[in-house]
Order: sequence, then structure tokens, then C-alpha cells
Amino acid sequence: MTGAFLEVSDLHAGYGQARVLHGIGFSVGRGEICAILGPNGAGKTTTLRALSGMVKGRGSVTLDGVQLLGRLPEQTARLGVAHVPQGRGTFNDLTVEENLRVGAYLRHRRGRRARSERVAVAADLERVYGYFPKLRERSRQAAGSLSGGEQQMLAIGRALMLRPALLLLDEPSLGLAPLVTRELFRIVRTVNEEERTTVVVVEQNAQLALDIAHQAHVLESGRLVLSGPADQIRQDGQVAEVYLGISVQARKGG
Ligand SMILES: Nc1ncnc2c1ncn2[C@@H]1O[C@H](COP(=O)(O)OP(=O)(O)O)[C@@H](O)[C@H]1O
Ligand SMILES: [Mg+2]
Repeated sequence: MTGAFLEVSDLHAGYGQARVLHGIGFSVGRGEICAILGPNGAGKTTTLRALSGMVKGRGSVTLDGVQLLGRLPEQTARLGVAHVPQGRGTFNDLTVEENLRVGAYLRHRRGRRARSERVAVAADLERVYGYFPKLRERSRQAAGSLSGGEQQMLAIGRALMLRPALLLLDEPSLGLAPLVTRELFRIVRTVNEEERTTVVVVEQNAQLALDIAHQAHVLESGRLVLSGPADQIRQDGQVAEVYLGISVQARKGG
């Protein structure tokens, strides 16, 4: 197979009669972090939903050469796609550890022997706690009692229990203080570097996302209006101001 690990081409998606994505295309190399930026309502969430099968898409989305369109979310999950939705979606009444074990559930069906599977899940719990020591401290607490930042860590930790090939993150910074977001993104970058997990992160907070991304795309009204290496997009102050509504020059080095 030549080409990128994730290849999106001429992707259309929407809700009923409402068309949201009007034929977007981008590719992500294996082990890269790709940021999708853009204003509220641009179609960022819809893009991730189309990738993981939560909404129907038309066009083509291949992961390592395998077509993802036309599959259900549990099928894309089995193919290695882990989707952390906007708003996290963790179970408040379950403990932190129970939430993490839910994340391993889809792997259980791969026909491995029960005992070796238990060992593998235990090892993955350790791995996730290694990335997120705070989750270990709070492993027996109800998820609902965690702070917003800890809940986002839990949502990402749960996704990592799948050992994903492709991690989709939808607005991980939403509602979090900048310092907490920075810490979260640092961990995402570490996971990316240590496990070569390919990441697509959707963000309104362009500055933070560009700090960890290799490539970035700007989405506006369901169309990509700008694509390129993250460095280049960050440095193009005018572009950033026009499309992202941020003053990049003023914040440089901050
Ligand atoms: N479940 C839905 N039903 C109908 N329209 C929706 C639904 N979800 C989102 N939309 C519409 O699709 C467009 C893009 O939304 P979304 O992908 O959530 O944008 P973003 O994540 O960039 O803010 C918006 O106009 C929004 O109102
Ligand atoms: Mg969104």
C-alpha cells in the first residue's frame, strides 16, 4: 500500500437534508498528529463522526488501505479507531477504573483466551496509569467526582485501552483552564511519540493544537480553506487572524 495511513478524499456528510461537509480531503501519515481547526459550526465534529462511523459519509476514508465508510462505530473501533467525543462521554456513576475497563471491552471480542486477555488488560491499565498518574490516585472514585481536566484524561485513557491505531480527539480543551489543556496535550504528544499512535485532534483553541500537531487543516463551512505543516500555519500570522481569529504573533513563544 502506498500513500498515507489515513486518507480522506471527497468526504461529504450531514444530518438528513442538512449537508455539512462538502467534499473535504486530507491525509495523515502513520504516527502523525493532525489538527483540524476552525470556527464553531464549521463541521469539525461531523468530520470525526464520519471517520468513526457515527454519521454516514460519502466519498472515501481509508485507514491503512481499509475503507471505513459504511461501517458502524463498533466496527471502526475494532479496526483501531478510538473516538473521544466532544463532552467526553465517560460514565459518572462508574469508578475511574471501571470506566477504563469499559474501554477494553471491544478488544475482548477478538477471540483471545480469557486469561491472557485479563493479563493484557491489566498491563494496559498500568500503561494508562503511567501516562495519567492522577487517574491511578483516583482509580476507585466515581468518575463524576473528578475535575473537568481529570474527566478528559479519563476519556482519553479509556480510548487508549483500545490500543488504537487512530485516536480521534474532539475539542479536548473545552471548558478546561489553559494550564490543564497544556498538560493534556503534552501527554497526547507523549503517547504519540511512544506508541506511534496517529492522532486527529479537532480544536477551536488553535494555538495549543498547533503546538503539538505536525499537520493542520482549517475547516470553514464544511470546506477546507487551508492546509499545511503546523509550523507554517502558525507562522502565517495573517492567515491565522483571518481564519482562526487569533493573534499568533502576539502570543508567539508564550
Ligand atoms: N445532530 C445534528 N443534527 C442536525 N444538524 C447538526 C447536528 N450536529 C451538528 N449539526 C450542524 O452541523 C453543522 C456543523 O456542526 P459541527 O460538525 O458540530 O461543527 P463544529 O464541531 O465545527 O462546531 C452545524 O451547522 C450544526 O448546527
Ligand atoms: Mg464540535
